[in-house]
Amino acid sequence: MDSADAFDSALDRMTQCYGPTASDDCRALVQGALFKSGHGDLPRWLNALQDIDTHAQHTVFTGTPGVDDQSEVGVPASLTAEHSESLRQALLTLHPWRKGPYRIGDLHIDTEWRSDWKWDRLGLDPDALTDARVLDIGCGNGYHGWRMLGAGARLVVGIDPTLLFAMQFAAIWSFMRSDSFCFLPIGIERMPASLTRFDAVFSLGVLYHRRSPIDHLQQLGQLLEPGGLLVLETLIIPGSDALLTPKARYARMRNVWCLPSTDVLCTWLHRLGFEQVEVADVNHTSIEEQRSTDWMTFESLAQCLDPNDPQRTIEGYPAPARAVIHARKRA
Ligand SMILES: C[S@@+](CC[C@H](N)C(=O)[O-])C[C@H]1O[C@@H](n2cnc3c(N)ncnc32)[C@H](O)[C@@H]1O
Repeated sequence: MDSADAFDSALDRMTQCYGPTASDDCRALVQGALFKSGHGDLPRWLNALQDIDTHAQHTVFTGTPGVDDQSEVGVPASLTAEHSESLRQALLTLHPWRKGPYRIGDLHIDTEWRSDWKWDRLGLDPDALTDARVLDIGCGNGYHGWRMLGAGARLVVGIDPTLLFAMQFAAIWSFMRSDSFCFLPIGIERMPASLTRFDAVFSLGVLYHRRSPIDHLQQLGQLLEPGGLLVLETLIIPGSDALLTPKARYARMRNVWCLPSTDVLCTWLHRLGFEQVEVADVNHTSIEEQRSTDWMTFESLAQCLDPNDPQRTIEGYPAPARAVIHARKRA
């Protein structure tokens, strides 16, 4: 299967950065998680990936793969109308597309999220990722990972246990063909011991899904090089000492365990030995940033808010707000 290349290509780079044990561990994890998963949709997805890869091989690139001036990840290309429609159908087999935007020629993948808006809010210094080995935990289909490479990272390791997102990563990779982005279809709890000491670790939109948020933060520290940069983005609630555990769902999501205030988050990070802890941004998620599109036709944020009071979720909690925090592991 050609799309296997998408998961193999960065292993040489991985060997340079982390040694042969790490790349062997990663190969075994990819094979275990992906090809032996028995996921019922996998045959359909793999067929679509083969189609997409064939399309990629027949695409005439008119520029270099990367990030365009609309913050779309992809490649300038000349596609006939027929080619474009057939590629669109193959990509739609991998619906729902949540994170993006992406573009292949004139084919625009208008994802549920404007992940480029989140990227802009991260507020990274221009040289923050120069030549860095970066880990993106819960990377979704890899949108932010491509932005990290665009910002000068030497190697990006993205991990995410949702197989559909691994498929979407492979679809985009068919056009990007970078050997500097290694995607592991695993959760953080399965990170191999051979892979630590990253120069920067990103945990964007993951903390509130973890049952033990303090343990999650501690693990982020363990994955970092001393002095390394943590970029944390998570749902928060207003107030100073506040911490919310939803009784059941939050904004219709079943798997939300904990929304702290920014003060509580900063206290946790200090207690865990981080320094230079700074709140880089606080933002209320808008229905322009997260919405249904042709590429994600299910309900989105608008349907999760109280129709009579958009400051509240449908369950009566404060509507989604998110903070970005930067911190350094103590050297
Ligand atoms: C809200 S999304 C955030 C995606 C992306 N980081 C962003 O900010 O746009 C949460 C992601 O975490 C992933 N995830 C769920 N459990 C995880 C785990 N145990 N370890 C790592 N990622 C996980 C999900 O598959 C999903 O892609």
